[in-house]
Amino acid sequence: MAVPERDRTDLTDPTWWRDAVVYQVYPRSFADGNGDGIGDFAGLIDRIPYLERLGVDAIWLSPFYPSALADGGYDVDDYRDVDPRIGTLQQFDEVVAASHAAGVRVIVDIVPNHSSDRHEWFRAALAAGPGSPERDRYVFRDGLGEHGELPPSDWVSHFGGSAWTRVPDGQWYLHLFAPEQPDWNWEHEEVREDFHRTLRFWSDRGVDGFRVDVAHALAKDLGEPLRSHPHVNSMDIEIDGTNPLFDRDDVHEIYRGWRRVFEEYDPPRTAVAEAWVPVERRVLYAKPDELGQAFEFDLVKADWDAAQFREVIVDSLERATAAGASSTWTFSNHDVVRHASRFGLPAGTDLNAWLLSDGAEPVEDVALGARRARAAVLLLLALPGSAYVYQGEELGLREVADLARDDLEDPIWLRSQHTEKGRDGCRVPLPWTAEGPSFGFGTGGAHLPQPAWFAEHAASVEDGDAGSMLELYRAALALRHTLHTGPALQWQDSAAEVLHFERSGGWHVVVNLGTEAAPLPAGEVLLASAPLEDGLLPSDAAAWVRVSG
Ligand code: GLC
Ligand code: CA
Repeated sequence: MAVPERDRTDLTDPTWWRDAVVYQVYPRSFADGNGDGIGDFAGLIDRIPYLERLGVDAIWLSPFYPSALADGGYDVDDYRDVDPRIGTLQQFDEVVAASHAAGVRVIVDIVPNHSSDRHEWFRAALAAGPGSPERDRYVFRDGLGEHGELPPSDWVSHFGGSAWTRVPDGQWYLHLFAPEQPDWNWEHEEVREDFHRTLRFWSDRGVDGFRVDVAHALAKDLGEPLRSHPHVNSMDIEIDGTNPLFDRDDVHEIYRGWRRVFEEYDPPRTAVAEAWVPVERRVLYAKPDELGQAFEFDLVKADWDAAQFREVIVDSLERATAAGASSTWTFSNHDVVRHASRFGLPAGTDLNAWLLSDGAEPVEDVALGARRARAAVLLLLALPGSAYVYQGEELGLREVADLARDDLEDPIWLRSQHTEKGRDGCRVPLPWTAEGPSFGFGTGGAHLPQPAWFAEHAASVEDGDAGSMLELYRAALALRHTLHTGPALQWQDSAAEVLHFERSGGWHVVVNLGTEAAPLPAGEVLLASAPLEDGLLPSDAAAWVRVSG
């Protein structure tokens, strides 16, 4: 088998991101250094050796900026500072230095669709009044109706309710998310310039790349009269680039401008778009003269089903290649039900209804979910392109589906009028040890309560246990780094319920999503997610096999 093409920890390599494994840190729930129940940079710095040992190439930090936490930090008060509860700019520099010393890059989350309502420019807009240049940086409009008492359009917020909120002087402002998240007016030159300044601010501090929040919503058709758009779901929109709110063709000019900023640096900074749009439009964000990558979310939405997986993989690889991008695979993040739970529920389960039942209906098959999650990571890490791992999945964490209503922090719970429980169940602070007030998350409590079963998943419990999820992730990552990973795969003949492909150099990957045991190609089994049965790969398992010759 071919030797690695390059040293993956070489921080000067401009192509590192193409096949990087990136670990998502949700800072408030990762590790708490001062015992106040909220994760912070001190806790993160302590755990960098853990991440180095895990074998990831980079970390992506979800927002750590000053924020009132109306939306878990995605309501940013100041894009160029650190929330004092999380740390200081100096500690941020220490995170970067310690990560780089460990050969791990740092990607930060950039939230360009909206600020928070406490941002300096939003306060200025409120103070300056209707018609002022300050208001023009956001989207303010007079209302409809005789006294302007009706919102300016039928646009709806992603978290429920109207996307418009009225201010005391009678005008309304737009927020595609919570009212505390006013949308920027991207037609305004100062807004564009200020984001370039933010990109440079973090790049100058040594950040390697950016994850771009709701990348598909920045450019809007704000021409009067505002066009009707009574939907929220950007997956249902027309895909010709003409929707008034989402995925407009104009958005790409913004990212071409960002690319010019990225290219000021050596190596150029990288970016990945969060754009929940169909694959044929999604890859446009990932073009080399724009962001370079865009999350492949179709695997997040797929059932545990070979045909669905195959279709997503084929389509995504084909389109990414055509766009000159690399694919960007993931099964979980801070917005979705953890995949160890999804795969333990019957296909087609209404996840929201399941959460509302506190995980009672349908009953989760915990063992099945864990077994499939083990197979899933061998698929994830074998696909060409880069892979994103969400904190805690390497411990096999499941969704905490039974959080009490009173403990919920996600604005979705309130804004949906208690019809959606929201995303807190995947954001519960990590268990590092089996004992202690918050399972080693910190010396105090945890801002979201951890269930007793977290003890079994503590990093210290799994460490060194050959059968644990943690050791499987470590082994798979270590192996991945020694295997030659070209940009393509070759599908091999297999039963319909089995995925079998070869990467370059005789690395065969077999994933059995069916109910019958499946044959493996003749060769050396490098890694398997479950013990083989008479040389066959059992149901819901995966294996990497080295085939020589
Ligand atoms: C993205 C984030 C999500 C946030 C939303 C609004 O989808 O991933 O957590 O609520 O944007 O910023
Ligand atoms: Ca803390």
